[in-house]
Parts: sequence; C-alpha cells; structure tokens
Amino acid sequence: IFFFVQEVEQTYIMIKPDGVQRGLVGEIISRFEKKGFLLKGLKLFQCPKDLAQEHYKDLKERPFFPNLIDYITSGPVVCMAWEGDGVVASARKLIGATNPLQAEPGTIRGDLAVQTGRNVVHGSDSPDNGKREIGLWFKEGELAQWESVQTPWLI
Ligand code: TYD
Repeated sequence: IFFFVQEVEQTYIMIKPDGVQRGLVGEIISRFEKKGFLLKGLKLFQCPKDLAQEHYKDLKERPFFPNLIDYITSGPVVCMAWEGDGVVASARKLIGATNPLQAEPGTIRGDLAVQTGRNVVHGSDSPDNGKREIGLWFKEGELAQWESVQTPWLI
C-alpha cells in the first residue's frame, strides 16, 4: 500500500536589513498575519556570507550579486516560514514586483520601498524553493509544530 501524503505548501519570507533598520518589522509581519497564513517559524538573525551566497546561488553570475550579498549581510534580517495552500504565489503578490517603483500600491514593496537594491523583503518564487530556503535558514526544531487543523480560523 502506498500513501501519498500531500505536503502543505510553505514559503520562506525574509525581512531584509533595510526593513529591520527602518522599523518595518511589525508592519511587514502583520500583512502576512492579516492575510491568514500560518506562521511556522520566526527569528532575528545575522546572516553569514556563505549562507547569503547559497540562498542566492542562481544569481551568482549577475553583475549585482556582490552588492546583493553585502546588502543581505549588512545587518540582522527577520526569517519567517509561512504555511498554507497557495502561500508561495500569494506571498509574492503581497510583496509586489522586484523593482519597488513598478510594484503596485497596496503591495509591501509598492507601499514601502523605492529601490530594487533595497526592496525590504524576500519571498520564495516556487514551492520547491520555499522548501529549499526554509531548510537553509532554519535548523531542525526551530519550526513550530502547530497545524492549521488547530487553527480553523486560518486557512
Ligand atoms: P530576484 O530573485 O530576481 O527578485 P525577487 O526578490 O523579486 O524574487 O532578485 C533577487 C534580489 O536581487 C532582488 O530582490 C533584489 C536584487 N536585485 C538587484 O539588486 N538588481 C537587479 O537588477 C535584480 C533583478 C535583483
């Protein structure tokens, strides 16, 4: 007998150093809370260079890569894991376009940022990357055990 367990979708959301320094932590977290996703992991963390490089490894040939690594490691970040059906795509919508000047008003970047190189928040771009990034940024035991069945007011 085979059991196909449907894994619950998770995404890795990170408030970047500029978001922390500008006092936007509560504002950004509250947007995901109010939307109704389930918070599974949360910590303030100083990212080492090798982790930043691994996280953004798909971009390592891009000209902005060194600046991106310096930026992400320039101060503490807030690491979060959020769970729910469709959370990856929905979080990307809440976050808005990479260039904050093109991000719609109402999105986090559209409301709170002006520069691509200082766009306050990261969100995984696929469920596979969500899993990969949560594995990179969180250690075993750091994620909460609660399930949405215990929280029927969420999704
Ligand atoms: P990317 O994965 O393309 O965007 P997103 O964060 O929206 O998924 O790029 C990762 C980060 O790299 C982006 O948030 C900001 C930085 N970046 C630059 O600094 N300059 C650029 O031209 C691009 C495309 C990204």
